[in-house]
Parts: sequence; structure tokens; C-alpha cells
Amino acid sequence: MKRILVTGSVGQIGSELTMELRKIYGNDNVVAGVNRTKPSETLRDSGPFEIVDCTKMDAVNDVVKKYNFDTILHLAAILSAVAEAKPNLAWNVNINGLYNVLEVAREHKCAVFVPSSIGAFGPTTPLDDTPQDTIQRPNTMYGVTKVSGELLCDYYYKRFGVDVRGVRYPGIISNVTLPGGGTTDYAVEIYYEAIKKKKYTCYLRAGTFLDMMYMPDCIKAAIDIMEADPGKLKHRNAFNVTAMSFDPEIIAAEIRKSIPEFTMDYDVDPVRQAIAESWPNNMDDSAAREEWGWDPTYDLSAMTADMLEKLTERISTPDKQARTP
Ligand code: SER
Repeated sequence: MKRILVTGSVGQIGSELTMELRKIYGNDNVVAGVNRTKPSETLRDSGPFEIVDCTKMDAVNDVVKKYNFDTILHLAAILSAVAEAKPNLAWNVNINGLYNVLEVAREHKCAVFVPSSIGAFGPTTPLDDTPQDTIQRPNTMYGVTKVSGELLCDYYYKRFGVDVRGVRYPGIISNVTLPGGGTTDYAVEIYYEAIKKKKYTCYLRAGTFLDMMYMPDCIKAAIDIMEADPGKLKHRNAFNVTAMSFDPEIIAAEIRKSIPEFTMDYDVDPVRQAIAESWPNNMDDSAAREEWGWDPTYDLSAMTADMLEKLTERISTPDKQARTP
């Protein structure tokens, strides 16, 4: 990776990934692709940014031509809960946007990183130790776009030789930019509320297990797979990656170790509960470990200690408040 475009660079993952890529590959070599949302000062002042609407082929083509990119990290996407509310938008961004990026990558010989998700699985998938290659019949629009995206990426590699690689991310937890309308967002919100109010009302039921990952590992996964020796990759796309699996009770108990007065009750959202129940309890990520050395750093207790420390500082410093994508 030498000249890199990050689409969706104001989103939860994109905002931190762009900054890390700038550290490694040089500020001027990493362009923050933003759609309508304004970039943060940090993103805007540390390197180039461009307005790129991925749903417009010309817009993607123009920016790739202008900078002569060799790599696109395509983070622009609609998350699961918003996708259920706005299926048209989800199809347009997650599928037409991806198609445009792959077409432009084919034309200009760019490598591409495409995140898939635990959402690519569904109720008929084996939900424990979910294998790398298994049944994928999701019943959400988000899942439909993610499975279709995985297939499209495989097709572009096999048919046209586009070097497209990707992982299936679990719920991502971070303390900088808030997630934008996912099912796993509770695992971020709970930390904010624990610090601010010492209580949290959870929209998922106790006993709902989901895979999760802390942002530094999420960023590491994207960079490591793009830097992996292609000769060792048997799958290329959609590698299961996870760092931990928990339910709301387990994360609450972990927070209570630092904030003993923290309490949690439940007000279950049937839409997000149904989505969560159709997703794995815990994925088997051995293919990623074997093929490109995936090895996450943070478990639940290390992540919780870091989240509480960073958020406590941020919440007490108003100009460092988390951003909404
Ligand atoms: N975090 C995502 C969501 O909840 C899953 O990929 O939509």
C-alpha cells in the first residue's frame, strides 16, 4: 500500500483507520474520502480529503484518477439497524457503491479492502463456533448486502484478478467516533452511560451473545490482511475475525469491577433483538489465524480498562467528545 483512498473515512472505523494509515504510510499518501458529513479537524488538517459519493461511478473514478491510488479501503456502508429502516439506501450504498469501487479498481488496477460482517450469517447458520465456510442465508437487508458483497468480491478476484481482500467484522467498540446505527452499538453506549449516569438500559436481552472487537484490533485486521503474503491466502475475502464474545450481563459485570454502583436494566428492541439472534454467538476465526496470522490483542478486561480510562478523560474534556458519523 503506497497511495491509499479510504471511503467512509468519517465513520466509526474509517475515522480511526485513516489516522493510523497516515501514521504508517505518510499523511499525504492517505486520502480521506468523505461523503456529506464534514470531517473532524484532526482528519481534515492531517492530510488530503475529498468528497466521494461511492454511489456515483464517476465520482469514484475521478478521485482515483486524480491521485493514482494503488489501494482503496472501502469503508462506506450502512449498518444493520439503519439498513432495516432504509433498505433502499442500504442496497444503494452497500451494493451499488461496492460495485462502483470494484469496477474502478479493476480499471485502475487498485487493491481493495472490503469489510463484511457477522451480519452475513443468518438463523440457519451454525451459531456456535461458526465455521469460515458455512450456510449464509441472512434475513436482513444488511445481511443480504453483505453476502452479495462477499460474492461480488470473490468474483472480481477470480474473473478479473482484482486484489480484493476482506474480513467479517464483529461488533466494533471504540471511544472516538460513535457507530452509526448498528445492532452491536449497545456495547459502545454502555461504557458512555456507565461513566455519565452509572446506569444503562440495554435494548438486547440478557443471554444474547455476539462476537466483538476493540478498535485497535479492528484496524490491525484491515492493515494485516492487506499486507499479507497473497500466496498464503486461500480465502482472500470475508475471513471470520473475532476477539471476544459476550452477552450484556458479562460486559456489565466487567464494568462493575471498576464502577461497582453501575446498574443495568432492559427495554428490548424487537428489531435489533431479532437481528442479534440471527447472528453467531461466536465465530471460528482459525482460517484468519492460519492464513495471515490474525492474533487480536484486546480481550474484554483489557478493552474495558482502556475504554473506561479514555472515555473518562474524554467526557470530562468537552472538546474531545465522541463524534457521531
Ligand atoms: N456492527 C455491525 C452492526 O451492528 C455489524 O457488522 O450493524
